[in-house]
Amino acid sequence: MKITIFGTGYVGLVTGACLADVGHDVVCMDVDQGKIDKLRNGQIPIYEPGLESIVKHNAESGRLSFTTDPEQAVAHGLIQFIAVGTPPDEDGSADLQYVTAVARTIGQYMDDYRVVVDKSTVPVGTGDKVRDAVRAELDKRGLELDFDVVSNPEFLKEGAAITDFMKPDRIVVGTDSERAQELLRETYYPFNRNHDRMIFMDIRSAELTKYAANAMLATKISFMNEIANLSERLGADIEAVRRGIGSDPRIGYHFIYPGCGYGGSCFPKDVQALARTARGCDYDAKLLNAVEEVNLSQKHVLFDKVSHYFQGQLSGKVVALWGLAFKPNTDDMREASSRTLMESLWKAGASVQAFDPEAMGETQRIYGDQEGLTLCGTKEQALKGADVLVICTEWKEFRSPDFANIASALSEPVVFDGRNLYEPEMLDRHGLIYYAIGRGRNQFRMD
Ligand code: UDX
Repeated sequence: MKITIFGTGYVGLVTGACLADVGHDVVCMDVDQGKIDKLRNGQIPIYEPGLESIVKHNAESGRLSFTTDPEQAVAHGLIQFIAVGTPPDEDGSADLQYVTAVARTIGQYMDDYRVVVDKSTVPVGTGDKVRDAVRAELDKRGLELDFDVVSNPEFLKEGAAITDFMKPDRIVVGTDSERAQELLRETYYPFNRNHDRMIFMDIRSAELTKYAANAMLATKISFMNEIANLSERLGADIEAVRRGIGSDPRIGYHFIYPGCGYGGSCFPKDVQALARTARGCDYDAKLLNAVEEVNLSQKHVLFDKVSHYFQGQLSGKVVALWGLAFKPNTDDMREASSRTLMESLWKAGASVQAFDPEAMGETQRIYGDQEGLTLCGTKEQALKGADVLVICTEWKEFRSPDFANIASALSEPVVFDGRNLYEPEMLDRHGLIYYAIGRGRNQFRMD
């Protein structure tokens, strides 16, 4: 099958590479010449385990190629995937300018039937806008070509994108056309062989499914963070509570890990966008608003703990920070809790010695020569001369650190853990004071 993908971000590149890997003939199109040049040279603009080798392998075998030429892109694929960004507007709603620009491009150049598949996360009703944009361009050209619009939301997680794409839980396809349905079935056949994972529905429901999935997951996290905050005040241990409720299959163990707040390119943006959509149709989405509010305050919890420990006297303090990315196995720092923490620390006059296994370049790019920030090459370096240690991301290499070294390197033997990586007794044994999230009253109570 000939396939074109517009947009070479996470979703676009992963989709293109994985579809090529199962034998489709894929062209990836991006307006960013620099990005396309790099991809042609085998350089991947993002960090995603396994992506580089799969891109290289398929590019070499000729099934995956890259272009900035819209005419060539539209001419190539019977299926045209839109996988461009939908950044939040100032008011939190998704900015659709890139999506509609691609739709117009398709209308400008298509000269035969096309299936226009929206993979970007877009508000309910975007399918209609895409259809209108394609049709308007065809009208300008005086053509009456047939085409279909499909919503096919992507559920992949950063850091596990390849596996998520290759072994999907479900493939949601929203369409009102049987022809498009059959073509999508054929496209996804290699990922759908053992049992049928394809779920067909109307376009609007498919669009809402994506938001509902992310909002549900974000709700689970904010719920647990709220129970964690309660645990601290009630003298309960959230980790015991987590195991206790997760064992109920109706609740499940997934996405009930308390922490210093969720970040990334999806949850914050999608929860806001859905709340905004709700306002747009005169519905006050109380739960969604609360999920967002709880998360915003959860991102301040680590700072509050550090500040409480130093009785508000943070000026001149040096904080070692392990973990900058919004989660492990990515260099992505969008909406990362580490940013809220660092910015609050700087404001309070403290400085930060930071280490992350992958996100050092990204930190440099975002904060450059920020006063009060030292970028460290290793987690041990970050500890040297620091007063306390704070952990924001649960990278594997932080799970079994040399506690004796931590205790001797810090001027105050205190660890603030935003991801509940350790058992309190372990740190106790090394003479470290441990403040985690929601782990009991006596040792951890903050107020
Ligand atoms: C998410 C969805 O999981 C994915 O299906 C969708 O396509 C895009 O959004 P992603 O943003 O890559 O994926 O990361 P995810 O692993 O879901 O984590 C999001 C955030 O939630 C991270 O900051 C993570 O630390 C936090 N999180 C996750 C928790 O705080 N607790 C949990 O139990 C799970």
